[in-house]
Amino acid sequence: MMDPKEIDHIGIAVDDLEAAIAYYQNTVGAKLVHREVIVSDKVEEAMMEVAESFLQLLCPTEPDSPVGRFLAKHGPGLHHLALRVDDCAEALDAFKTGGHRLIDETPRPGSRGTTVAFVHPTASFGTLIELVEERPSA
Ligand code: CO
Repeated sequence: MMDPKEIDHIGIAVDDLEAAIAYYQNTVGAKLVHREVIVSDKVEEAMMEVAESFLQLLCPTEPDSPVGRFLAKHGPGLHHLALRVDDCAEALDAFKTGGHRLIDETPRPGSRGTTVAFVHPTASFGTLIELVEERPSA
């Protein structure tokens, strides 16, 4: 069984990143702590600190992308739950061993120098799960 350390962040798909940042700043006092375009995923993220955790606002850089397709199908809204783990490969193995459907068969680079892997929502009662390992850069 995997042993998550905390809920690392909650991913929210948005179609207007500037408006979404302003909304979370002005309503819940969220603090913008990081912005990054993840070229491989065709998405721009804005990490917003809220209390002791983070909201990850995700806006596609083009429609033909994972978040772009999500928006086309569902509209803006909750996209994924990210669990922080010590070892992404080991955590992914726990899902693999259970025979659960995966999106990533092996861990890959995420934003902020993290290592990540996604488990398919059909494995987790409709919620896309991201496993996040924050390995200090060598
Ligand atoms: Co995420």
